[in-house]
Amino acid sequence: MADEAGGDTLLQIENLRTYFHTHAGIVRAVQGVNLHLDKGETLGIVGESGSGKSVTALSIMRLIPQPPGEFAGGRILFRGTPIVDVREEKRGNEIRRVDKSISESQMRRIRGGDIGMIFQDPMTSLNPLLTIGRQIAETVQEHMGVGRKEAYDRATEMLMKVGIPSAKQRLKDFPFQFSGGMRQRVMIAIALSTNPDLLIADEPTTALDVTIQAQILDLMRGLSAEFGSSVILITHDLGVVAGMAQRVAVMYAGYVVETAVLDDIFYHAQHPYTHMLLQSIPRLDLPRDQPLHPIPGSPPDLLTLGPGCPFVPRCPNALPICRQQMPPLDPVGGSGGHLAACWNPVKEKAA
Ligand SMILES: Nc1ncnc2c1ncn2[C@@H]1O[C@H](COP(=O)(O)OP(=O)(O)O)[C@@H](O)[C@H]1O
Ligand SMILES: [Mg+2]
Repeated sequence: MADEAGGDTLLQIENLRTYFHTHAGIVRAVQGVNLHLDKGETLGIVGESGSGKSVTALSIMRLIPQPPGEFAGGRILFRGTPIVDVREEKRGNEIRRVDKSISESQMRRIRGGDIGMIFQDPMTSLNPLLTIGRQIAETVQEHMGVGRKEAYDRATEMLMKVGIPSAKQRLKDFPFQFSGGMRQRVMIAIALSTNPDLLIADEPTTALDVTIQAQILDLMRGLSAEFGSSVILITHDLGVVAGMAQRVAVMYAGYVVETAVLDDIFYHAQHPYTHMLLQSIPRLDLPRDQPLHPIPGSPPDLLTLGPGCPFVPRCPNALPICRQQMPPLDPVGGSGGHLAACWNPVKEKAA
């Protein structure tokens, strides 16, 4: 595990729990996320729709609306700074919640400056009423302490870097004047304009068609390397992760259930869910006639989860203990840093 004292760790998440209070009850969207990210590294977060990927990303940006959202516990440390730090402390018979998270004004400096984010649908994060130039320039002015002229120069430079033709003229255009792929390029330009240490991309190419998708991923890979930004790439598509990430975290029902370097996920997966996820996608590295197996059943209702592992109803390996207790995310053999939360992991066949 990465050392928390600093070293190469950029981001450390410990036991994060993010809940939503709804009329139907408490939605435990994130109920046990543990992960870390080193400087310069790209981490892929994968999992089915509803597994808590976006809520994890929004928690890192502290963009969870409170209420109905709530940080019920855990820590998010960014370069050691507690973006979220919520603990329960026992005083006599009373359990008190102690919140040592940084203030909103401290958070505002980090958000959009040290951490940039790209969303699936750029239209929701771009302001339709402001020109692209103004949106980039304002971000740059706010976070980099430069004047207007310099900020607009930076905006031009960034549009050129993301491959938008006639960059200088296009500064005057509004979001609707760009195609979907071009809008996503603009989002990348904004997110990287402040030279962030961390770039979070939440399904950045899901809404785009396949060829544009590949171009955008290439662009992200090239620019994050050039800018030296670490990347969290969120996707439901393991294929996207394969070409981009060094490490992968697999999420299920609000938990990270397995994490490892890319090859260990693809060739030595230990969690039955990761296995089933791998069998459900086409693989270029396996024979063409390999049958695809969609994962049977559906994800659990986050309102009615019991104490055990949420994957039990769909799991071929389930034991009685799995219904009673959620297993911890513990080391499992192989090369270092391979962790899985499973009482009965998949046994590897001897070669
Ligand atoms: N504002 C909210 N209020 C209530 N439930 C929410 C809210 N935001 C997210 N959720 C729930 O949290 C769960 C995880 O959502 P999300 O993180 O968006 O999943 P993913 O990004 O993996 O598809 C879902 O069940 C979703 O309905
Ligand atoms: Mg999502």
